Parts: sequence; C-alpha cells; structure tokens
Amino acid sequence: MRSVTVNAPSGHYAVRIGQGLLQTLGAGVRERTKARKCAVIAGENVFPLYGAAALESLQGAGLETCSLVLPAGEGTKCLRHYGELLEFLAERRFTRTDCLVALGGGVTGDLAGFAAATYQRGIAFVQVPTTLLAAVDSSVGGKTAIDLPQGKNQVGAFYQPALVLCDTDTLQTLPARELAAGYAEVIKYAVLGDPALFKALGDKSIEPAEVIETCVRHKAAIVAEDERDTGARRLLNLGHTFGHAVESRSAYTLLHGEAVSVGTAMICRAACKKGLLAPADRDAVIALLRAYDLPTETKYSAAELYDTLLLDKKFSGGRLHLIVPRAVGRCEILPVTAEEAYTWLEAGLR
Ligand code: NAD
Ligand code: GLY
Repeated sequence: MRSVTVNAPSGHYAVRIGQGLLQTLGAGVRERTKARKCAVIAGENVFPLYGAAALESLQGAGLETCSLVLPAGEGTKCLRHYGELLEFLAERRFTRTDCLVALGGGVTGDLAGFAAATYQRGIAFVQVPTTLLAAVDSSVGGKTAIDLPQGKNQVGAFYQPALVLCDTDTLQTLPARELAAGYAEVIKYAVLGDPALFKALGDKSIEPAEVIETCVRHKAAIVAEDERDTGARRLLNLGHTFGHAVESRSAYTLLHGEAVSVGTAMICRAACKKGLLAPADRDAVIALLRAYDLPTETKYSAAELYDTLLLDKKFSGGRLHLIVPRAVGRCEILPVTAEEAYTWLEAGLR
C-alpha cells in the first residue's frame, strides 16, 4: 500500500492507495473517527459494484450502517439531492460524531462532502474515490460543492476528510471514457510542475497506482501551503477556467475531465499566441491530451463562453486569475480584467 499524508492547516489525514483497500474501510473509519453510525453515499452505477463490500467492512468493524443511492451524473450535485441527503441523515438521527462515506467519483465526493461539512455544522467524512479523477484530485484537499442552475460549484465549503481510501481495484470497472477524463487532471499536474511525469505519460511507462501517488503528492504539497485557494492552490485550476465555461455551456454533456482537457488546450493556444509559451510546448501538451483520447477543441464561440466565464469563482475584485503555462512543468498565475479575459478566450479557440 502507498500512503501520502495531507497536512492541511485544518486537519491532517492519510490518502491510502492500493489494491483491496475497500476491505479496510471499517478499520479506517474506526481508527480515524469516533463514529457509531456510518452512512455510505454512492451513485447508482457504483453502489451495485462496491456497496456491499463497503457495508460489509463497516459492519465487520462493529459500525451501524445505512446507505443512500443517488442518480449518476453531474445533475446530482444539486440543491435537491443535497437536501435529500441532509434529511436522510436527520431521519436516522445522525449525530456530530457519526460518519459519512462518499463511495464514488467526484460527483458523489463533492455532494457528500458538502453535506458532511454542513450537517450539524460538520460530521466526520471519509472519501473512497472510485474514478481516476476523484483519486488524483477531487477526493483530496477538502473542496466540496454543489452546482446551481447558474453555474458549477457555486455553493460549497472547504472541509477535509478524515481519511481517503483509494482502492485501485475499483478502477477496473471504470468505463474507458471516464478513465480518459481522469487523465486530463493527471496531465494537469504534469504541465504544472512535473516534466518527468509528462514524459512517463507520453511513454505510457507509469502504472496507475504510481500515477495516483505522484498526483496526490503534488496536490498535498499545494493544499498544505494554501488550503483556502488564495495563492498557490489557484494553480490547480489550470485548464479549469475555460474548461468550466465549456462544461456548463455543453449542459454537462462533456465530462468534467474532457472540459478540462479542452480548457488546457485553449490556454496553451492563447499563451502561445501571446508569446508566453513556445509552440513546441503547446503542441506537446495538445498531443499528450489527444494521446489519452481527450478532446482539445470546442464548437462554442468566445461570446457563448464569456457569460459563463463571468460567473467563475476565480473572478474576484474585477480580476480573473488565469493559469498560464510558460513551459511544460512551469505555469504562472496571471490576473486579468474581464476585457482581457475575452481576448484570452478568443485566442484560445483556434
Ligand atoms: P463522476 O463522479 O460523475 O463519475 C463518473 C461516472 O463513472 C459516473 O457515471 C459514475 O457512476 C461512474 N463510476 C464511478 N466509479 C466507477 C467505477 N469504479 N466503475 C464503474 N463506474 C464508475 O465523475 P468524476 O469525473 O469522478 O468527477 C467529476 C466531478 O468532480 C465534477 O463535478 C467536478 O466538478 C468534480 N471535481 C471536484 C474537485 C474537487 O477538488 N472537489 C476536483 C476535480 C473535479
Ligand atoms: N481541483 C482544484 C483544487 O482542489 O483546488
């Protein structure tokens, strides 16, 4: 088993990565929380695959259990299912010392995490990521959120889990399109600061558990420095500023990772046009995204994407913080006005 410690200012916890770890869920909850009751929250695709193993492990550790199965897909990260989850906990008399387990991808983790952050002002929470994207990104670092019809992740909290258990066996059942979407976030870490990872991904010479550990180490270092996203953590939004606009505009027919891939390609094209990134580096990033079967173009115009961009949480004080690649392995944060953001958006399209 591999293990990475996240030393966030609001809490320290382990991210355990390896085969067969679902069987250790009950022991992990016992070790890291004071829970007597544990609710497993999972999507309709994931629960039939891994729900029984999760519940069995929790019951084997002497915990009282219940489960809530929600529809799959981004649409579940909404006020209605958030309310349903809070009422589910209240009806079962969950107290502050009980525990929520998010078993699934980033949708389940973000929703369950936000419910855990707010139910009785915060109950224990364990992440069991079952997608590559959740393993390398969303399950680590404590960002929890739901969407509003007006935009993505508009309501949320920073709330760290007590433990992250990444059982790499669960990735075996992940559809190929979802696996590829996860690689968009993996490529993000490589472009941000890891040329060796970039090369290994290009050669396809790195196994999934090592990919996950490498990415989690990068994320843990950034979260330890800037848990609340006011400085270095903004770098993790590489590809997300334009990506979120594309994702919302597509009415979530594009997966999050696919949209991040498009956003990453767009910011590379724009940085190149503005003389900040060498054409060879732009081409290398776009080629790597394509090698993982990820999209790099969008049909939407700058005008169509701009309205959504203005809602972005990264807009503050009239400035949007763009994450601009300067080379493979080096990016910088560039605050721009709304008017400048439009020119970046246009430059990213072709
Ligand atoms: P997802 O949660 O929608 O899961 C993808 C699909 O795969 C779903 O249909 C799910 O049912 C299915 N699935 C999950 N695990 C499976 C498995 N092992 N076998 C078979 N099917 C499986 O998508 P995602 O890509 O994991 O997460 C995307 C979400 O994460 C977005 O809402 C995004 O905003 C959020 N996100 C959050 C953060 C953060 O820091 N909190 C970071 C990145 C992304
Ligand atoms: N996924 C971006 C972050 O955690 O900050």
